[in-house]
Amino acid sequence: MDIVYIDRALSDKERADILFSGNIIIYQNVSAMAKVIAYADKLLKDKLKGIVPEDVQHYLPPEEFLTLTGEAQTIFRKDESVRRLFFDVLSECGVHLDSTFYDHFPMRIVPFGNTYRGAQTAGLGHHRDTWGSNIHSQLNWWAPLYSLTAERSIALYPKYWSKPAANNTSTWSFEKFIEARKSTPAERKCEYLSAPSPIAAVDENDAFKVVLQPGEVLNFASAHLHASVANTTDKTRFSVEMRTVAMSDLQEKRQAPNVDNAGQGEMYQWFKNITSKQSLASALQ
Ligand SMILES: [Fe+2]
Repeated sequence: MDIVYIDRALSDKERADILFSGNIIIYQNVSAMAKVIAYADKLLKDKLKGIVPEDVQHYLPPEEFLTLTGEAQTIFRKDESVRRLFFDVLSECGVHLDSTFYDHFPMRIVPFGNTYRGAQTAGLGHHRDTWGSNIHSQLNWWAPLYSLTAERSIALYPKYWSKPAANNTSTWSFEKFIEARKSTPAERKCEYLSAPSPIAAVDENDAFKVVLQPGEVLNFASAHLHASVANTTDKTRFSVEMRTVAMSDLQEKRQAPNVDNAGQGEMYQWFKNITSKQSLASALQ
């Protein structure tokens, strides 16, 4: 797995050729990220009584931390205006907004310490995003809102690009997750996991912790096995993410290999066109 540093727009094909062979891209000097970061920083500081967001765990009790950051996450998730700011980021990276489909745009928060395991904010375990969607042309975009270190970041597992990770894709059901979600408070973690997960240990020796800084954007094939790094620093991690599918990749069958996904049926209905909001499912009919 190579890290390819890019500071210009890439075509769909150029991007796909890098990512679907298992490499990852870090776009550098993405000027449009500044507005996304400024929006998030203002929202968080307004909610968190003006405390520096990365340090807020030192000042607020856990429940209050969860409540206030949860409120900020809800506002962020529902606000079309910040999504549009991120579409400008994608556009700067060369994404054709008219022919690209996205799912959602959450702000992810990974607290340090072990106090928050039951919260939506806890770090995500090992997974491939394609395990849930079954769309092997799908891409992940991920960007930090504040500075990162290796112990406050995201890890990819390069060996598993071509090696299976035992998982429950054959039995996981999106419908069951939606049922369980209904009885779970907003921004808290659901008992039934929102996506399939491994059923055997993943080799942690293979972890590659990606460190990038605000203003940079990480892009990788959704088929890459990845996880949140357990945050052992003294600052909270804040990042944003989005998944996209380019129509040209689907049409030209540019995609990642499927080494271990036993799921049935693609979740095209999760994605909508960035410009028209038409569902990918209906666009493909
Ligand atoms: Fe993911």
